Amino acid sequence: MSRNLLSIADLTRDEIEELLDVTDSMVEVSGRNIPKVPALRGRTVVSLFYEDSTRTRLSFDAAAKRLSADTMSFAVSSSSVNKGESVRDTIETIEAMGIDAVVVRHRSSGVPAQIAGWTDAAVVNAGDGWHQHPTQALLDAYTIRSHRGSLEGLHIGIVGDVRHSRVARSDIEAFTTLGAHVTVVAPPTLLPPSLAPWQVDVSHDLDAVLDSLDVCYLLRIQQERMTEALIPSLREYTARYGLTSERADRLAPDALIMHPGPMNRGVEIAGEVADRPAAVITEQVANGVAVRMAVLFMLLGPGRHALPPLAASDERGRDDGPPERAPQDLDVPTADPVDPALSGTEA
Ligand code: MLT
Repeated sequence: MSRNLLSIADLTRDEIEELLDVTDSMVEVSGRNIPKVPALRGRTVVSLFYEDSTRTRLSFDAAAKRLSADTMSFAVSSSSVNKGESVRDTIETIEAMGIDAVVVRHRSSGVPAQIAGWTDAAVVNAGDGWHQHPTQALLDAYTIRSHRGSLEGLHIGIVGDVRHSRVARSDIEAFTTLGAHVTVVAPPTLLPPSLAPWQVDVSHDLDAVLDSLDVCYLLRIQQERMTEALIPSLREYTARYGLTSERADRLAPDALIMHPGPMNRGVEIAGEVADRPAAVITEQVANGVAVRMAVLFMLLGPGRHALPPLAASDERGRDDGPPERAPQDLDVPTADPVDPALSGTEA
């Protein structure tokens, strides 16, 4: 794995599968009484969110803390950004404090890649404009894999506002790389101008594809990104593309219903449908913490491959065990939790 995670396209199929395997270990850690291991003790992870977020920001924060990293959170609303500080100056300022990873969300596509050129810290893209949201795709793939064993040969429908969705772009790449067949289902106005790079089918008729789906993945209507009227009305959108109760009844009994959140209940998904057992939306959130633990572990911890091993004398590496350890050896035993005093102050 390279030193940053900017896009799903940065990962080979083997690397995605390895990350999902490491996520299994992180799910196990998260299920412990004290869900904390010292793997990233002494590392510092900074969250830099220039755009609103609830679950992604909290999820990265929880992930870093469960690995015992120190965390710093940058609240744009109360920072020098309001005094005109540029992203580059902000990065140089926080880098001077000594950081190992920057988790960044920005409303403009490409900002995380730019930041990666300005810092030696690992950069993780937590969502940039319409472009990419790679950890969302990894947690979605993990959630599907945990139910179906593999994505190979599955038919996944991605329904709704594909045009504005970084989740759709990332999911399409991850799902097809892992062997799934993807159909995007949307009105023509909510599709990107070109679908050329993607190996997907396109449908404008949800009713026509519903009963062949293994996964019905609903996207939020992103009204904040629409600069023109792309749908006649929300009511009309729901009538043609919403997963209503009647449509959900037509899905295969083992089909999964997914949504990245935040949901517009009653628009892209009926409130009742979101609460059915087939809807694994809260599982996606829970898996999000474990997937982000795996990503941070692979980028910063003993799981990383691309970075040179820590010198034996490196103070920060001492608690981590031999740097060459394989990720599957994340071996803080259940019966030997981290010092409770430590987890008390850091958790
Ligand atoms: C995102 O940040 O892209 C969200 O997880 C999905 C959305 O906002 O609809």
